[in-house]
Amino acid sequence: MKILVIGSGGREHALAYFLSRSSAVDRLYWTPGNAATEQIAENPGIPVDDFEVLLKFAKKEDINLTVVGPELPLVEGLTDYFEENGLLVFGPKAEAAMIEGSKIFAKKLMEEASIPTAKYESFLNFEEASRYIDKIDPPIVVKADGLAAGKGVTICYSREEAKQTLHNYFIEKIFGESGTRVVIEEYLSGEEATVLALCDGEVILPMISSQDHKPVFDNDKGPNTGGMGAIAPAPVVTDSVMMKVMDRIMYPLLNKLKTKGITYRGVIYAGLMIADGEPYVVEFNCRFGDPEAEVVLPLLKSDLAELLLSTSLGELSGADLAWEDGYACDVVIASGGYPGKYEKGKVIEGIEKVERNPDSYVFHAGTKKVDNKVVTSGGRVLNIVGKGKTLKEAIDKAYKNVSLVQFENMHYRKDIGFRGLKHLNN
Ligand code: AMP
Ligand code: GLY
Repeated sequence: MKILVIGSGGREHALAYFLSRSSAVDRLYWTPGNAATEQIAENPGIPVDDFEVLLKFAKKEDINLTVVGPELPLVEGLTDYFEENGLLVFGPKAEAAMIEGSKIFAKKLMEEASIPTAKYESFLNFEEASRYIDKIDPPIVVKADGLAAGKGVTICYSREEAKQTLHNYFIEKIFGESGTRVVIEEYLSGEEATVLALCDGEVILPMISSQDHKPVFDNDKGPNTGGMGAIAPAPVVTDSVMMKVMDRIMYPLLNKLKTKGITYRGVIYAGLMIADGEPYVVEFNCRFGDPEAEVVLPLLKSDLAELLLSTSLGELSGADLAWEDGYACDVVIASGGYPGKYEKGKVIEGIEKVERNPDSYVFHAGTKKVDNKVVTSGGRVLNIVGKGKTLKEAIDKAYKNVSLVQFENMHYRKDIGFRGLKHLNN
């Protein structure tokens, strides 16, 4: 079959890489891609938001399946547009993608389905939201309703800070219209983890768990980022936690969507807070996690192309998800200054040394080719992955690989997987 992958980050590189190794895939396109694209796919160079040109290309090339990496095109209806024109997409239609596109929609759904999550109220204006702040105790979590490039959540440790945050969202409109509808919710403590599940509208198949590391510095210090590294599986997600995630979260979510007449086809991302073995939903996303995909997919033994196709066709029933034993660890290398201001265009050395190592991968994020050299072009630059029989082995392999790569002012966390190791050592 012919597959088109849409997106340009590490998640899309991981998807395209494992699709390129499938015997079911005859031809692979990946757009707009990054410096890694030409190694494994053809790049038509079409931006993610140019639906018309994407459709024209997919029609002309007889693409059998379009795999969408990021949330924005899904929330904006790329799947609907392609399907109306007779093309198959991996990724939910706009009304199903609302589980990520609107926090108010997601919270209502969870409330109606009795899915464990933080208590919340939603607000459409500054005054009512501020009055509510006076009635509750910090820490207070303020969330913009719509997409905000992963930056729409503020954890406020005083009422003043919460009111200032509301001012920034409603009055200053720092997130545009996304922030003029707001969810205020209770603060959950515990350990975060991710569970991804393939869903074809009827059948839902969990993948192995994973754990992102969002803050920029070691020991979870500093501002949040898109993710500085990940491990899979996550030891905090024991078999018992996974069963609860399916019984209390995934099945009720699917059933509630169905009763509303919404068919969900794609991957469901459940961002969880796990407290004393009890999972609560922090957020749902309508796509693979980044960097979670970079550690989950390397452990998948089943054919990725067949699975994504079955999901999109509504034919997951009877499909088998087989996993390697062992673990994967991804260390993200970022540009100096990220998540604040950073410079671009730094020449990257050593990638090929990692690629030659067994059980090792480099998934590019913010990279591009200039004069046949790979240079930095974003905040998160590379995902350096190692696999191992134990979590410790996977982490050691990842960091050994990191030591082979070099660019000016690069930085990375030195403690990816520390929580996982604590569980296994106790
Ligand atoms: P989100 O954009 O919903 O993933 O939120 C970003 C991050 O904010 C999450 O990964 C959590 O670390 C944190 N967060 C969100 N909601 C809560 C909550 N109710 N309690 C504690 N932390 C939260
Ligand atoms: N790793 C966080 C996300 O993909 O939303």
